[in-house]
Amino acid sequence: MIARGTLPTIGTTTADVASLDVPVLALVLPKPAAMVPALDALDALTGGALARTLARGDFTGRRDEVLHLAGGATGPARILLVGAGDASDRAVALKRAGALAARRASQMDAATMAALALPAASGRELEALVTGLTMGGWRFDDLKTPPKERRTSLGEVTVVVDGSAEAAQAVQAGEAIGSGYAFARRLQVMPGNVCTPDMLADAARDIASRHGLDCTVLGRREMEALRMGSFLAVAQGTPQEPRLIALEYRGAGDARPVVLVGKGICFDTGGISIKPAERMEWMKYDMSGAAGVLGAMEAIARLRLPVNVVGLVGATTNMPSGTAINPGDVVQASDGTFVEIVNTDAEGRLVLADVLHYAKKYDPVACVDAATLTGAIVIALGNTVHGVMGNDAALVAEVIAAGNRVGEPGWELPLVPEYEEQIKSDTGDIKNTGGRAAGSITAGLFLKHFAGTLPWVHLDIAGTAYAETDLVALPRGGTGRPVGTFVEFVRARAR
Ligand code: BES
Ligand code: MN
Ligand code: ZN
Repeated sequence: MIARGTLPTIGTTTADVASLDVPVLALVLPKPAAMVPALDALDALTGGALARTLARGDFTGRRDEVLHLAGGATGPARILLVGAGDASDRAVALKRAGALAARRASQMDAATMAALALPAASGRELEALVTGLTMGGWRFDDLKTPPKERRTSLGEVTVVVDGSAEAAQAVQAGEAIGSGYAFARRLQVMPGNVCTPDMLADAARDIASRHGLDCTVLGRREMEALRMGSFLAVAQGTPQEPRLIALEYRGAGDARPVVLVGKGICFDTGGISIKPAERMEWMKYDMSGAAGVLGAMEAIARLRLPVNVVGLVGATTNMPSGTAINPGDVVQASDGTFVEIVNTDAEGRLVLADVLHYAKKYDPVACVDAATLTGAIVIALGNTVHGVMGNDAALVAEVIAAGNRVGEPGWELPLVPEYEEQIKSDTGDIKNTGGRAAGSITAGLFLKHFAGTLPWVHLDIAGTAYAETDLVALPRGGTGRPVGTFVEFVRARAR
């Protein structure tokens, strides 16, 4: 069993918040924040301090605003006012506010907390709040010796609900999605010497065995038989066994599946075109696409969505060695294309070339890949917005819309044919880099070649899957993105 780090469990109550005997109560309020009758009893416990704070405008409900108030002699010991802002999509705002609330409670060493969003949350909003709470409460210190830096972990979060069946279902769904994010983030945070291609395969088998999915794992020999010369070119420099992982979830009989594809480079040194030493340690996150796919499969299976989904992961490490590929080498991908490798650091697209071709055997209705593919996308879109490219305008729009609904915004980059010139090879058919200009797009065009007739969308998550600086609602490190986008996309197809 692959643990998920420390993840709070979610409980529910219909009680008045004034009666909750918890170390921390998070009250998530929109802007402009104002007193409401539901808080009267709690306000009385504070001797009117809560109402006075709101009346004075000391807390306005702004996005990311947090104000810590002392509770009364009974009831919640501390009250955290957390701003949800005036976002047009309240579910998105509650997800972020929930994460921030749980993160703060966790920083205060609270073992438990309660949370209430006002005005009353709809099912969709409650689900998002719960997802956020689990994300903010998650942490990973399996690689620290005890005593851990923080003594207490947030073990349980009690969410105040109306007691309806809809609310119970929403909480369950929020927990399922939260556990998908946690699954992804655990794989992300583990360094390259721990999270190897074999460990990714074990993680997939773990999902398969707990939820009854089919899992197939191919190694070097099987990929040789399939003539995956492009994937294997990357893998030839590492002693680790490369893994092509296929995880098949069946929720809809014989229906054509959605295929999710993840780049799983467990460490990217750049290979012979080696990266600078500075900040190279962040390249343990180069398997984030794979983590996103596996996290999404965990959530999809837990949600029992009535749809067929195949998760494909191409896992290896990119190493310089005596057996590594050299710039200028030409290899043949499984679809027959001769690829000239002009830069061994553009390895993700080489792996994905063969995995995308492999995806065709499932005859999918849609194929969406996620990859930490280019540094250029970080320059263009930063840590909040992922890049989106594809060969099917409607599918691109569908994936972007799904991301927007879960607070994972994406922005389309155009795969204009003019830039195909940049990746034409003198020696072979296509080369793996097209220079610095439009680096994310030429990477997308390279993938498009191998997607062929698949209805396909590519997410460049190099900027959004992890952050080197604090993100306010989440700490620096892995974000679990795009688990939410994947799950929401698949779910909308199931409706
Ligand atoms: N894994 C990197 C991309 C990356 C960069 C991810 C920064 C996260 C943060 C990828 O394999 C890579 O090295 N891409 C090169 C491509 C170039 C050689 C054409 C890049 O972006 O520099
Ligand atoms: Mn690279
Ligand atoms: Zn890479």
